[in-house]
Amino acid sequence: MRVDEALALARAGGLARLDAQLLLARRLARPRAWLIAHDDAELPADVEQGFRADLAARLDGVPMAYLSGEREFRGLTLAITPVVLVPRPDTETLVEWALECLADRSRPRVLDLGTGSGAIAIAVAHARPDARLTATDLDDAALELAQANARRHGVVLDCRLGSWWQGLDGQRFDLVLANPPYIAEGDPHLPALRHEPRRALTSGSDGLDALRELAAGAAAHLEAGGQMLVEHGAEQGAAVRALFAARGLRALGTRRDLGGRERCTGAALAGP
Ligand SMILES: C[S@@+](CC[C@H](N)C(=O)[O-])C[C@H]1O[C@@H](n2cnc3c(N)ncnc32)[C@H](O)[C@@H]1O
Repeated sequence: MRVDEALALARAGGLARLDAQLLLARRLARPRAWLIAHDDAELPADVEQGFRADLAARLDGVPMAYLSGEREFRGLTLAITPVVLVPRPDTETLVEWALECLADRSRPRVLDLGTGSGAIAIAVAHARPDARLTATDLDDAALELAQANARRHGVVLDCRLGSWWQGLDGQRFDLVLANPPYIAEGDPHLPALRHEPRRALTSGSDGLDALRELAAGAAAHLEAGGQMLVEHGAEQGAAVRALFAARGLRALGTRRDLGGRERCTGAALAGP
């Protein structure tokens, strides 16, 4: 099979042209531009076989990031495998807000709970080299990937394996960030997300179990005047504001994502 035939096969199957080119270029270990100049080149048998497998997986809904092995987040290329959620552009809203919170703090201590690929923690550390970052996850394979991504971008993460606040007893932070699982079990969107790890997606019958635990532990882990920002579902803003208020935290408001939906809520512990 030739390059042009492989790309035509992908397009006939319904794959976007750019995705097809990226997958084939990766199989050939060539830049995408090479394909354009060599559309009559014969594919080695193993490349053709691998490309056909990629094509089938992509058409079955496997995210491009799992097939290409990477995803860009806030301008940083991160290695991505199926052990972690594919970082979403909407999560950049949380990072932008975090950097605003840190603007008047020097050498801040920052915690990223449920770090996955490390996207949030690494983006913050990259933008604020003086920040001291701790990152946690329940999944050690995710933490290994986060560490590898941190090394790739020359930043240091203190990675801790454990459930939410577990293992952080006695530690306080200037800023706590989390993009926890927040989809309700049984949500009709879940089948479309079936290739991503379930523990990164769902959290109880209303999707709020993790956010309840996060709000419950906030006061014990924030410095006086410290802030906590969490990502949540578009319909969960009011519930999350109430969770923080019930724990005595001061509201910092809710921000909207790139699509205009409520996406992140913040709260602060009373100042010194
Ligand atoms: C929605 S993903 C977010 C990943 C990453 N922070 C991002 O924004 O792309 C949620 C992450 O929380 C982790 N997680 C789920 N339950 C947890 C728990 N009980 N304690 C710590 N991390 C947990 C998952 O493994 C997953 O990496």
